[in-house]
Amino acid sequence: MQKKKTILDIQKMRQAGEKITVLTAYDYPFASMMDGEGIDMILVGDSVGTVVAGYDDTLPVTMDEMLYHCRAVRRGVRQALLVVDMPFLSYQIDLTEARRNAGRLVKEGGAEAVKLEGGSNVADTIRAIVDMDVPVMGHVGLTPQSVHRMGGYKVQGKGREQADRLLADAQAVEQAGAFSVVLEGIPAGLAREITAAVSIPTIGIGAGVDCDGQVLVIHDILGLCEKYSPKFVKKFADVSGTIRQGIRDYIDEVKSEQFPGSEHSFK
Ligand code: KIV
Repeated sequence: MQKKKTILDIQKMRQAGEKITVLTAYDYPFASMMDGEGIDMILVGDSVGTVVAGYDDTLPVTMDEMLYHCRAVRRGVRQALLVVDMPFLSYQIDLTEARRNAGRLVKEGGAEAVKLEGGSNVADTIRAIVDMDVPVMGHVGLTPQSVHRMGGYKVQGKGREQADRLLADAQAVEQAGAFSVVLEGIPAGLAREITAAVSIPTIGIGAGVDCDGQVLVIHDILGLCEKYSPKFVKKFADVSGTIRQGIRDYIDEVKSEQFPGSEHSFK
């Protein structure tokens, strides 16, 4: 059995040049499978709102929903570092509320770190949470909770001015005490620049190969999300095809009285 991973192990991986693997999970079976296969970090993402609950964006997701999914994932995790997203409105109002909600995700959800979106604008919040010994992961670039400000899910940091702002954001997140930072939806060259400029692990999603690690949504890599597939997603399996086939076979067999057979019936 592999040793339990902590934030220190994740930081050592960057120093050793070993790529860090991260996937999202929202329930016990997926968490235990990816943990068993040796994933480094599991993120209970607020993407649960879109890929599981069917919302158009992550904004409606609540603290209670994140706590429910985090507890389910916790029960499946033995060796990976468990990080959970702070949902929209759980850390933006004031530092006291942010600290209480971060603490609840650790105490009631069993998370070992929390992730929140933003750069310089959330530096004080990151510092306040880190000060109570809850590790924080930052998230800059295309931040889904800012969908309305961005005018959609668009690649960020394209011009030099925007790129400099994102670089400053990543540095502010590091200086505030974050142990790691997600870089989402930014040009690969900018992600390389940010990775060289900070000393904490950068975890990319749609940010090219030069980040210290990669994160993707589990439903996207398994082909479970039939609604859309962003350019940065690679489908490593076609699970929805398998599921649809299984459902069709069940319907056919019930209709034709092939199921249940005698082996599935009691005498
Ligand atoms: O909510 C999420 O799943 C995320 C990642 C994919 C980075 O924030």
